[in-house]
Amino acid sequence: MKALVLSGGSGTRLRPFTYSMPKQLMPIANRPVLEHVLENIRELGVSEVAVVVGDREPEIAAVLGDGARLGLELTYIRQDRPLGLAHCVKIARQFLGDDDFVMYLGDSMLPQGVKQFAEEFAERRPTAQVVVHRVADPRSFGVAEVAPDGRVTRLVEKPEQPLSDLALTGVYFFTPAIHQAIDKISPSARGELEITDAVQWLVSYGATVRAGEYTGYWKDTGRAEDVLECNRELLGGVQRSVGGLVDGDSVLIGHVVVEPGARVVRSRIVGPAIVGAGSHVVDSRVGPYTSVGRDCRLRDTAVEDSIVLDGASVSQVPALRGSLIGRSAAVTSADTGSSHHRLVVGDHTHVEVAA
Ligand code: DAU
Repeated sequence: MKALVLSGGSGTRLRPFTYSMPKQLMPIANRPVLEHVLENIRELGVSEVAVVVGDREPEIAAVLGDGARLGLELTYIRQDRPLGLAHCVKIARQFLGDDDFVMYLGDSMLPQGVKQFAEEFAERRPTAQVVVHRVADPRSFGVAEVAPDGRVTRLVEKPEQPLSDLALTGVYFFTPAIHQAIDKISPSARGELEITDAVQWLVSYGATVRAGEYTGYWKDTGRAEDVLECNRELLGGVQRSVGGLVDGDSVLIGHVVVEPGARVVRSRIVGPAIVGAGSHVVDSRVGPYTSVGRDCRLRDTAVEDSIVLDGASVSQVPALRGSLIGRSAAVTSADTGSSHHRLVVGDHTHVEVAA
């Protein structure tokens, strides 16, 4: 079996971050979403992986390289425009050949893994198998109607009136029959070749399509609040490890990771929390549920339930909570005596100041 990871697209819902970085590189517990995805694929024993990329290819390739670091052989396939998930399969035809493959959306987080579905697919040999998850409001997802025996009877992309509460998680197991189905479908109303339509085509022609229900934690990391929620979830599983320097005036409570090269001075870190390599935390409080990336500077501040991306600095800000601070961004307080806020804020940025 091979794997196809989709990492193109425009990521408009995660602006302003996606002006400067592809959404699939957003760090969750200090590792890009794509690395979490690739780890789940490696767990299946699959090593040949193609990553579909758009114009963000250089940044993605700079992080993932040839995949050797992750125990994988990566091939990059360039998609000129985001013409749909099924379009990605089309352009990967040569790489996929006549092999079975797992298709995995590069922004989909399933921390409990998908091994059981790969095993089920291998044992039962349906024409296709989708991984679904029960959600309260399925209208922004592909939705599957599933018979009690696990057979999919109908699939609809982002229905206004969902047929069930089973959302497609973005993990699909395919036999080569999917290529024929993709050749038969036309672009949807949003102008994309939908994989949901291709799988529905298989169902309509009597092929066996099965659904496996993933009951663990699942998140499509498309929006800032999803990224923060997912970060909380993953930090919940970190184990204490202190590789950096922590001075005698600092306290670490609970599951705290201080990566090698980080420095913690006169500060209190409450787990779960991570302080990334090369970062300095001085006279501050960090956590719980906070990840600080690499080479950040935190001074005289308190940061809780937040993600601070690489190279960012926060100083003399009394309390930050539920925040995503972008790469190399600076958050500081005004000179004493100032009665106003001064903001230099990029396009599509969201700022909330205390009243
Ligand atoms: O999150 C799960 C949902 O993902 C499923 O329930 C839907 O059935 C499925 O269509 C998909 O919907 P989204 O609207 O969330 O897809 P999105 O545009 O966010 O793209 C998903 C991933 O695929 C993302 O990493 C970008 C990548 N992509 C997307 C398109 C449209 C590509 O690489 N090329 C593309 O042309």
